[in-house]
Amino acid sequence: MPNIILLGPPGAGKGTQAKRLVDERQMVQLSTGDMLREARSSGTEMGRVVADVMDRGGLVTDEIVIGLIEEKLTGPVQGGFIFDGFPRTLKQADALGDLLARTGQTLSAAIELQVDDAVLVARITGRYTCGTCGEVYHDTTRPTARVGVCDACGSTNLKRRADDTEDALKTRLMEYYKKTSPLLGYYYCKGQLHAVDALDEIDQVAAAVAKVLDRRD
Ligand code: AP5
Repeated sequence: MPNIILLGPPGAGKGTQAKRLVDERQMVQLSTGDMLREARSSGTEMGRVVADVMDRGGLVTDEIVIGLIEEKLTGPVQGGFIFDGFPRTLKQADALGDLLARTGQTLSAAIELQVDDAVLVARITGRYTCGTCGEVYHDTTRPTARVGVCDACGSTNLKRRADDTEDALKTRLMEYYKKTSPLLGYYYCKGQLHAVDALDEIDQVAAAVAKVLDRRD
């Protein structure tokens, strides 16, 4: 069971590629962004704190996100895990290594989705997702076939995220460079880093990700 991390700045395509892997390979997506969005809608004190941090584009504390992953990572799953948006700090990366070891698992690859910062504003401000099944769309590059209706599940519950603004994106990108990009060196030194050109079309990016998963080494 390959366990992989998808690494990349906001809008690189982590969620889009994770969804493909879930559909095509029955992998299990663990997205801390999705877990936190669920927590914020719970109406708890923790949810209110999380909402404030996310809307500004900051990072939620390591303790909270490590706790969320710990709850889900109790043992191996058929198909393997996709860590989407986690880890995002060196502390989270160490914690993930410990959690995998403790549950008898290993990491197969950390896949970096490489993009130019210049494309991110357009990707983020044009994004909408299905609130029912999580399918990811874009106003111009991947619109739904019927306006307002999810292609995947037929729901009309299509949403835009509160942090998908140009202002919040600047903060999110800065957080990425300050706190998350050191993970590229971290996984390179462990021999686990694989880069994929994520400026390509979605299908081509998926093919490159598949190549990493299917490699023999
Ligand atoms: P999170 O939900 O993880 O957001 P993110 O990392 O900012 O990434 P995004 O979901 O914005 O982008 P993506 O790479 O998934 O791109 P997508 O596939 O949607 O985190 C949100 C917040 O939660 C954080 O800011 C933080 O506050 C908190 N948080 C989460 N995890 C945390 C952690 N571990 N620690 C602390 N805090 C945490 O694609 C974007 C758009 O582009 C879509 O419209 C898509 O259709 C389009 N697109 C995708 N690929 C292509 C392509 N190849 N060509 C053209 N268009 C494309």
